[in-house]
Amino acid sequence: MTSLIKMQQVGKQFGASQQRQTVLNHIDLVIEDGQSVALTGASGSGKSTLLSLIGLLDDISTGEYFLRDTQVNSLSRQQKSVIRNRHIGWIFQNFNLISSMSVIGNVIQPMRYHPDIDKKDYQARAMAMLDQVGMADKALSQPATLSGGEQQRVAIARALINRPSLILADEPTGNLDSENSQRVMDLLSSMSESGGTLILVTHDPLVAKICQRRLTILDGRIIDDVY
Ligand SMILES: Nc1ncnc2c1ncn2[C@@H]1O[C@H](COP(=O)(O)OP(=O)(O)OP(=O)(O)O)[C@@H](O)[C@H]1O
Ligand SMILES: [Mg+2]
Repeated sequence: MTSLIKMQQVGKQFGASQQRQTVLNHIDLVIEDGQSVALTGASGSGKSTLLSLIGLLDDISTGEYFLRDTQVNSLSRQQKSVIRNRHIGWIFQNFNLISSMSVIGNVIQPMRYHPDIDKKDYQARAMAMLDQVGMADKALSQPATLSGGEQQRVAIARALINRPSLILADEPTGNLDSENSQRVMDLLSSMSESGGTLILVTHDPLVAKICQRRLTILDGRIIDDVY
């Protein structure tokens, strides 16, 4: 079977000609289905940039990127957004919930872009997912009334609702205390143990430890890759 992610000599640059800054360089990376990978490295080393390339939020500047068998660099914006909505779940440090929607509204949102999920199933499916993360009793609350840990659990429910094959988490515990971090790690671990592929950026060695594989980035290059 082909690898889920394959990057060959990928580079990323920002800015116009004179101020052009190289942020990632010569990235060769293969990630198989079901792997859990922690990305670590100093601030500014390029971790979030690499995650945004993997998750199709941004385009590579050089090299080649294959997601499954698809050469991603040649896809249209529209094709990329279809892949993002159906196959990739994102979790961010600052939760990024939509503040004008209720908790359940946030969890339902991604299903609206998934053509194979029947509208009449939205509610039940969202409630089942909220139950899994221990947030069913807050389904009708507004995100702003929740604690950070609760918001992150809702964000995880939202990320998992379309059963994505790939979960990308950028410092998912960065704004949480140790108890809430533990809960979020438990959810991510069980998701990855049930066969999902997880790539997470973290500064916290305890969080990195839940992953089978650890990649270290320094100045835009992968300098260490440990299983
Ligand atoms: N959109 C952008 N335009 C210009 N430069 C950018 C952009 N995004 C990131 N950079 C630069 O790329 C470098 C790497 O940024 P990145 O956010 O990937 O680092 P990071 O490893 O995630 O750091 P942190 O741990 O602080 O989150 C930084 O020097 C940053 O200024
Ligand atoms: Mg970052």
